[in-house]
Amino acid sequence: MIDHIRLSDDEKSVIILDQTRLPNGTEYLELSEPYEMYEAIRLLRVRGAPAIGIFAGFALYCLARKYESLPYPQFLKRLEEDAEYLKSSRPTAVNLPWAIKRMTSAAERQKSMDGMLEALRAEAQAILDEDIAMCKAISEHGLSLLKDGDGVLTHCNAGPLATSRYGTALGPLLLGRERGMNFRVFADETRPLLQGARLTAYELHKAGVDVTLICDNMASMVMKKGWVQFCFVGCDRVAANGDTANKIGTSGVAILARHYGIPFYVLGPSSTIDISCPCGEQIEIELREPGEIREKWYAEPMAPEGVKCYNPAFDVTDHSLISGIITEKGICRPPYTESLAALFV
Ligand code: MRU
Repeated sequence: MIDHIRLSDDEKSVIILDQTRLPNGTEYLELSEPYEMYEAIRLLRVRGAPAIGIFAGFALYCLARKYESLPYPQFLKRLEEDAEYLKSSRPTAVNLPWAIKRMTSAAERQKSMDGMLEALRAEAQAILDEDIAMCKAISEHGLSLLKDGDGVLTHCNAGPLATSRYGTALGPLLLGRERGMNFRVFADETRPLLQGARLTAYELHKAGVDVTLICDNMASMVMKKGWVQFCFVGCDRVAANGDTANKIGTSGVAILARHYGIPFYVLGPSSTIDISCPCGEQIEIELREPGEIREKWYAEPMAPEGVKCYNPAFDVTDHSLISGIITEKGICRPPYTESLAALFV
């Protein structure tokens, strides 16, 4: 598996695999300025809830190195300014503010510049290492539900590119494949930015998993044919009652799954659970550029000039449609207000 987020050798910049170029190009970018880092998140060069948290950790460490000669109070102020700036790049995934808070708290705990950079580097590395361990554990729990030959439908991309290793929703499929199991995976293409086509199909195909790409509006058809035994999706923010924000279109998949009696599971690390958010109504949904619907990917615009477009990047799946939420600690079942709260005691 590739390290798609890492520090440069001199540790002055973060190197990322530019996910907007996949699957046709493998291009790495070296980012050292705050606006480059902000833009990388905003434009989805680095994306997926856990991955943007991991990236923000290393990004803040690199930025901190720029002003390490400042006295402690000024240093902290600069770090907090950069932290706020990076946090404002995308609003929905909780992993971004979660990781940023870990970095600023690590700096505050230090109380002086002694050992500051070492502490920040260690915190960024811990965020990455913990994610690797969490993804592995999530993959094991998810795999415990599957048997050889099962059909699994997934939406968007919750694989290694969206995390560290294995991924969340794709983790059980990749782990099972490593162990010689075979699944039939249906990957929704995921309009408008095609994470399913460009990234999920790419990751699974490369790993030798039997993956079939479908347009988003074909999910009902493959479910009706009996080809899907489970739906596995990732998450960007899970509220305390289990309502789950994930890529736009996820709630439609959950509604279809309920109609056809197919279990629908959300997989994510406990860092994606926002226990301070009571329900989905409180989750801010990112709105993106109309051009992503109207003209992106097409040789010429596919809608009349000036037509109104509504482009929410995420939607919220009601907790009542979710069979289980799989974290590194196991499988939470309804009522989620109790099972999710129990993860944090
Ligand atoms: O807009 P994106 O590509 O960042 O959206 C990603 C998703 O919706 C993923 O399903 C989610 O972040 C989970 S990644 C493990």
